[in-house]
Amino acid sequence: MQQLSLFDDIEQPSEREEILALRKELEEQNYNYYVLSAPVMSDREFDEKMHRLEELESRHPELFDPKSPTQHVGSDIPSGNGQTAISDGFEQVQHRYPMLSLANTYSEEEIRDWLRRVYKGLEGQTNVEIVCELKFDGLSISLWYERGRLVRAVTRGDGVRGDDVVQNIRTIPTIPQVLPAPTPDTLPPTFEIRGEVLLPWTNFDRINRQREADEEPLFANPRNAASGTLKLLNPETVRERGLDAYLYYVLGENLPGTTHYERLERARNMGFHISDAIRVCHSVEEVMDYIHYWDEQRKTLPVATDGVVLKVNSLAQQEMLGYTAKTPRWAIAFKFAAEKQLTRLNSVSYQVGRTGAVTPVANMEPILLSGTIVKRATLNNEDFIRSLDLHEGDFVWVEKGGEIIPKITAVEPAKRSADARPIAFIRTCPECGAPLVRTEGEAAWRCPNESGCPPQQKGKIEHFVSRKAMNIDGLGAETIDLFYEKGWLRNIADIYDLRREEIAALPGFGDKSAERLMSGLEESKQVPWSRVLFAMGIRFVGETTAKKLAKAYPSIDLLRAASQEELTQVEDVGEEIAKAIVAHLSNAENLSVIERLRAAGLQMETNETQERLSDSLDGKSIVVSGVFRLHSRDEYKTMIEAHGGKNVSSVSAKTSFILAGENMGPAKLEKASKLGVQILSEDEFLAMIEP
Ligand code: IVH
Repeated sequence: MQQLSLFDDIEQPSEREEILALRKELEEQNYNYYVLSAPVMSDREFDEKMHRLEELESRHPELFDPKSPTQHVGSDIPSGNGQTAISDGFEQVQHRYPMLSLANTYSEEEIRDWLRRVYKGLEGQTNVEIVCELKFDGLSISLWYERGRLVRAVTRGDGVRGDDVVQNIRTIPTIPQVLPAPTPDTLPPTFEIRGEVLLPWTNFDRINRQREADEEPLFANPRNAASGTLKLLNPETVRERGLDAYLYYVLGENLPGTTHYERLERARNMGFHISDAIRVCHSVEEVMDYIHYWDEQRKTLPVATDGVVLKVNSLAQQEMLGYTAKTPRWAIAFKFAAEKQLTRLNSVSYQVGRTGAVTPVANMEPILLSGTIVKRATLNNEDFIRSLDLHEGDFVWVEKGGEIIPKITAVEPAKRSADARPIAFIRTCPECGAPLVRTEGEAAWRCPNESGCPPQQKGKIEHFVSRKAMNIDGLGAETIDLFYEKGWLRNIADIYDLRREEIAALPGFGDKSAERLMSGLEESKQVPWSRVLFAMGIRFVGETTAKKLAKAYPSIDLLRAASQEELTQVEDVGEEIAKAIVAHLSNAENLSVIERLRAAGLQMETNETQERLSDSLDGKSIVVSGVFRLHSRDEYKTMIEAHGGKNVSSVSAKTSFILAGENMGPAKLEKASKLGVQILSEDEFLAMIEP
């Protein structure tokens, strides 16, 4: 006993620290998951940490904190916004019934434990029916119907209040907006119904393909895509994405029906999308059969699922069991295990990115995982390789869970040959041979040869021409590769020295491609200073920082003259960013590139008329043609840029519309009507960009 109390004394402070650290970590993960839609921890890891925290907190009641993540559900409302009625353009609404989450289980044993608790809570009642449903992997939504009409659609938010996204929800064809007249087999016209908003796999794939083409970051999984989509402010864009929804929970006062299942049936009779996979079970065996069946069959479903939800069917029994602070006692989730496979590591290769960061990649014996062939997986960095204790020729476990990207989660040491050597991270750049550097506090090794290392050079050029930077058409990654091989491109200034005749003479190019590129280059000379600054590719200077910097320093010369300390006065610019800017702008090679860009005619200072006024023409390619009444042709071109659109000189299938004045050329007119490109008048155009 004495020994134990001694041990307790030692353990006490560290458990307190562990509690505080876990709370912080889990809060951060909640934020990543619900607000940023970009989880960095797997669900399983999250649950394990949550369990550990629950266990520690129950041992230390003196450390109880109502703000602990064990006491509330995750929130998709950015913190600090709690009191405001509008968050990100949506009205915040208090839930009529708190929107809880479910406790997760991973084994048959845990399901049996839950059932035992259910029986105990029901004080010996044995007639317990369990409804098994699929656990859809999307976002929960609460639909409010009043007098037969959909009036609100509220996201979970923090469980107490959420955002009303009804305008976006109205774009989902399977959600009724007006209900049929009530019958004895339906629900009355006022109630609430909850379910999951999802992006079907086919639409998810289509959107990611488009995002890839537009050089936008890909969605990691349909859940993140659905979450990003619901938060869009333009319902038309939401409609194009093609969301769907499954409903699984009816709430309200004095509703007919004594079981959960019956209420779902009634909802189905009214046209609600209720899954066909729902089963009423009477034993653990039946429940396990359901789970095993769907663990296999879920691959054939059009939407993502990540488990099964078990609910006590009788509403009276549900009421008897009640709730904990976060979850109902009458329901539980069973999470499917991520699919995993063992395969052999053939080699490790190293990729050098635009910023010089070196990423190790595992090349493996190909395996089939969740329907796709996997042969490569990122190894992140040197520390990750160490933590796996990865050796040459190792057998590794590869998992593909909710995330689409496969991960190596462990090695199988039993299958390692005795003489296998540990993987040693390279020390020189695989592309240019420069010795790599690793700054203290950073995980990545970097190639410092910024201006001479091919992938860094090409990466900088790709970034420069990308849509959000200079938006230059006709210079994709392959073309950059080819021009690089030819020795025409080494840095971003070389782009403006490209020669039309030389390009036209290349196989597969010709006059038309050359012309397109040349006019793209010409048009890029109108791109405003803030985007030119972003395009330069200074480390850490993203789109938003570039905008803020350009506002504070309206020309390259003023920016160059600023000291590191002055730069940190700009919002969002910390020590590190300021240091990177000063370093970039005092490097002789960079300065010569900047001077060449200036000489080529790029905007190196703010031109008042070029301020971005709105995004109403975002992504649109517009041809301006003819003679105008109200503004000059150049003024219209400036307006197009200012509202996020792009000026293009010739009509093609990609043209969004033509802004046409008097005397538009007959050739353009004919081409437009042949391709079905819309023609807008001056007045129509001005109405379009009106605030
Ligand atoms: S019932 C009080 N049923 O899983 C019970 N939830 O991890 C409310 N989910 O927040 C939930 N499929 O977003 C229920 N068939 C299903 C579900 C389901 C997916 C989601 C829901 C919930 C989360 C809990």
